[in-house]
Parts: sequence; C-alpha cells; structure tokens
Amino acid sequence: MRIGIPAETRADEKRVATVPEIVEKLIKLGFSVAVESGAGDAANFSDEAYRTAGADIVKGASHLWAESDIVFKVTVPTSAEVDLMREGGILIGFIWPAQNPELMQQLAAKRVTVLAIDALPRQLSRAQKMDALTSQAGVAGYRAVIEAANAFGRFFNGQITAAGKVPPAKVFIAGAGVAGLAAIGTAAALGAIVRANDTRAEVADQVKSLGGEFVKVEYEEEGGGGGGYAKVMSDGFQQAQREMYARQAREVDIIITTALIPGKPAPRLITAEMVRSMKPGSVIVDMAAERGGNCELTEPGQVVVKHGVTIVGYTDLNSRLARQSSTLYATNLFRLAEELCKTKDGNINVNMEDDAIRGLTVIKDGEITWPAPALKLPAAKPAAAKPVAAPAAHGKGGAPASAGKTAVLFGAVALLFLLIGAFAPAAFLGHFTVFVLACFVGYMVVWNVTPALHTPLMSVTNAISSIIAIGALVQIAPPLAEGLDRPDGWIRWLAVAGIALTAVNMFGGFAVTRRMLSMFRK
Ligand code: NAI
Repeated sequence: MRIGIPAETRADEKRVATVPEIVEKLIKLGFSVAVESGAGDAANFSDEAYRTAGADIVKGASHLWAESDIVFKVTVPTSAEVDLMREGGILIGFIWPAQNPELMQQLAAKRVTVLAIDALPRQLSRAQKMDALTSQAGVAGYRAVIEAANAFGRFFNGQITAAGKVPPAKVFIAGAGVAGLAAIGTAAALGAIVRANDTRAEVADQVKSLGGEFVKVEYEEEGGGGGGYAKVMSDGFQQAQREMYARQAREVDIIITTALIPGKPAPRLITAEMVRSMKPGSVIVDMAAERGGNCELTEPGQVVVKHGVTIVGYTDLNSRLARQSSTLYATNLFRLAEELCKTKDGNINVNMEDDAIRGLTVIKDGEITWPAPALKLPAAKPAAAKPVAAPAAHGKGGAPASAGKTAVLFGAVALLFLLIGAFAPAAFLGHFTVFVLACFVGYMVVWNVTPALHTPLMSVTNAISSIIAIGALVQIAPPLAEGLDRPDGWIRWLAVAGIALTAVNMFGGFAVTRRMLSMFRK
C-alpha cells in the first residue's frame, strides 16, 4: 500500500507527519511512500532528503491525496482536505473526535477508515511507543522553558563572576503532567531552582527525581480523576491553592503553567493580582493558552507584557521545534504502522480485536466507531489479597507447584554441600563457603539498589575490591609468627607495586562514586 504525506495546511504549522529516516523504515515494512513536494521544508527536511530515503515526491495536494491508500497527517484535516481524500482510504493523525463532530460526519460520508492518534488508549503499556500526545507534550514542555529563557533577562543558573554574584532563577511549574515534567527537567538542567505543584500528589516523586521541589497545597483532597488525569477540585482546595500560588508568584522569576483537566476549560490558576505581585522582568509561559489559559491575562498566540511581566501565550510550541516534534511524531506513526502491518508486506489490517487499534479507530469503513468501549484492564489486586491468598492455598492441601520445586532445589544444594564436605579438602570447603556467601550478599545488594544507582554501585564495589591491598601488605610486612618465612625480595617488590596500583583503584573508585552520587543529589 502507498502512504502519502501531504504538506500541512494550517497556518503556522511547521511539522510534517514523517521524516526521511522513517521513510526508509516504512519502505522496509513493505510500503511505498509519497511525499508532497515541500511538505518537510518548514521542518528542515528537503525533498531531496526524502527522495534519497526512497520516497516519491508528488507535486500538489490533490495528486498526493488521490494517489495514497493511507494518509499520515499531523493536524486535524480541513474540510477541503477531506474532499480530496479517496473513498475507502485510511487517514491517520490528530482528529479530536469529541471536538470535531462535523468533521467526523464528513469523513464517515467518504466511507473512509480513520485512526485518531489522540484517541490512543494511553493506559496500555504497549501503546506508549505510539503515544504522540506524550511525545509532543514533552517537546512543548522543553520549548516552553526555552521561550521563558529567551524572554527572561538573566541567567538560569547561579554564577559567581569577577563582576559579581548572580543568583539562580526560580521557576515554578503549575501542573506536572507530561509537559510539566519535561519543563521541570529542562529548567533544572539549565541550573534554575525549580518548584512544581499538581493536584495529583502521586507525581511528587517524579518532580523530585527530575530535580524539582514539590510544593504541596495545605489541604487534604485526592486530586486524581482516574486514568492518570486530574479532576476539578473542591472550593476549599482551590482557595488553599490560590493562596499558595500567590506566595509563589511573589517569590519566583518564572512561572510555566501546564494545568489541564481533559474535556474542561483550563483551570484559572494565576490571577491578574498574582501577575501584578511578580517582580518586574518576570516571565509567565502559559501552555494552556489554547484552552483559555491558566493565567487570567494570557492572550492566546501572543506575547504580551502586563505589569512588567512578559506573558507568553504561544499555542504552537511544537511547531517552534518542528524538526524534533516531527521526528518523534513520525516514530510514533511508524510504531503504529508496525502494529497494523505485522506481516511486513505493506498491507495493513485494522484489527478491531486489538485493544490499542480498537481505541484508535474512530471510523471504520465509513461507520463511526468512536468512542471505543471502556478498556477491561486487569483489576488491581487488593493490598491484603497477597498475604491472605497464600495460606488459603496451603490450607486446601495442594502445595503450589513452585513451593515443591524450591524444596527439591534446596535438597539438591544440601546434598551437594554434603558431598563437598565429605570428599573435598578442608581448605576448598572454606573457600567455597566464602564464595557462596559472596554470591548471596552480591545478589541481595544489587537487587535491592535502584537500577539508576547501579553504576555508582559498581564503582564503589570496585573501590572496595581494593581490599587486595591487605594481601599485598601481608607480603611486605615482617612474618606474623616465628618460624614463618619472609617472602622473597621480588615478591615483596611485586606487593609494593600491587599496593600502589590498588591504591589508585581504591581512591579513584571512591572519588568517581562521590561524583556520580552528586549528580543524583542535585
Ligand atoms: P497532562 O494531562 O499530562 O498534564 C496536565 C497536568 O495538570 C496533570 O498532571 C494534572 O494533574 C495537572 N492539573 C490539572 N488541574 C490542575 C490544577 N488545578 N492545579 C495544578 N495542576 C493541575 O497534559 P500535558 O500533555 O502535559 O499538556 C499540558 C498542557 O499543555 C495542556 O493544556 C496542553 O493542551 C498544552 N500544550 C500546549 C502546547 C502549546 O503549543 N502551547 C503544545 C502541547 C501541549
């Protein structure tokens, strides 16, 4: 089948639905790819680059749409684009069916199949590689910080220079979802002091792990609305949150707002009064501008200065990093193509039995199939179930198969030890016991340390292994008891060299560990 990539027609849209590197991969999956001439220009992907990757360059949108069995798009298609679509074709891109009922009717009338990438069931871990909402929000969060840095008149990191001391910038992030977390990581990497708040308290650890400080609202209320999204909070919570935000507004230099509740207008978090209380030269980047804004004074699509504070209300942050956004989006669509074309022969199968594909498919052969039925995710086990279940199983008399296997294994190991004890020399038994204990301790240590800390763990164990120095010291020291021979001269010189080398290992290992751990402490 032929995949077509039209140039995006919405004003200021610079992204493109695939990139040359992905064209090659789509061709390996058995598809042919046609790209409208100039489609990648705004994202710095030339026609030549697409041609080299194996795509055909087609002049004019009407030819492109008419020739393609499947069309990959970024933004919601316009009515004119739907008219160009071939009957029975397949469209994959952002659709937002809830917000665009007329478009859905128009597409259905064309008897096409539509996969809305925004309708992906994000709860499925298998769907993560296709999650374009996440990839795009991550880029937008990064870009929001870059926009803030551009509008802010100072460094982000603290500096001590000959000309004086510069304090680090203080950044407050409202909403720690995908975009918010990307913004936290970026601002922290630039050296700012980062604070963040979200109504979902469970994100506090993620905020901390990215180098931010989670600022809690002093009001007890659960903020999760299910599926990892937020809910509208009570009046009491909102009042307490406003007071905390007002305090932050007075203290910080930059506020980046990303708060969103799906299907609702953006919550108003930053009032005009809070803007007035900010220091002159401060910056607000309101990522929710398109949904009405988290800040009262935001003007969608514009940069305005109010009360000395620059308020950035861009709604096209992804287009402002078009090459990166396009590459990630193209990868998401390629992963989807892999799921649709498991046979790798360039033919796709929209399998409605597959939960991920079912969720994405909003129109199938002209029939509206949106919304998809709720996913039947495996119910979370009640916390008490585990300890209770085990004795119950034993009580029925049928010991679990794994328990039987463990008993056999233990028996075999005990027998092995017995044989070693009976026949091996005494010295071997001693060494063997130490070896087994070392394996056990090593296993317990490694498995109980977070994977992220395995590298510093290795360097510290490397440093500790320098205990070999003790062996070398024994060789050069006078004999410990009378009657024992002193080792030969050359052995003692080897021991001296061993001590020198192991000292480098020891001190170096600890120094490297310290440096690595300090990266995690930031
Ligand atoms: P998300 O749903 O992953 O995150 C939103 C977060 O806001 C959630 O963690 C939620 O708990 C939190 N939240 C909701 N109400 C809150 C409140 N009252 N106080 C504090 N936190 C609250 O959404 P995502 O993907 O991170 O997107 C964030 C925003 O960025 C959205 O409004 C989205 O439309 C916008 N966006 C804007 C772009 C632009 O060009 N301006 C580009 C991409 C996304």
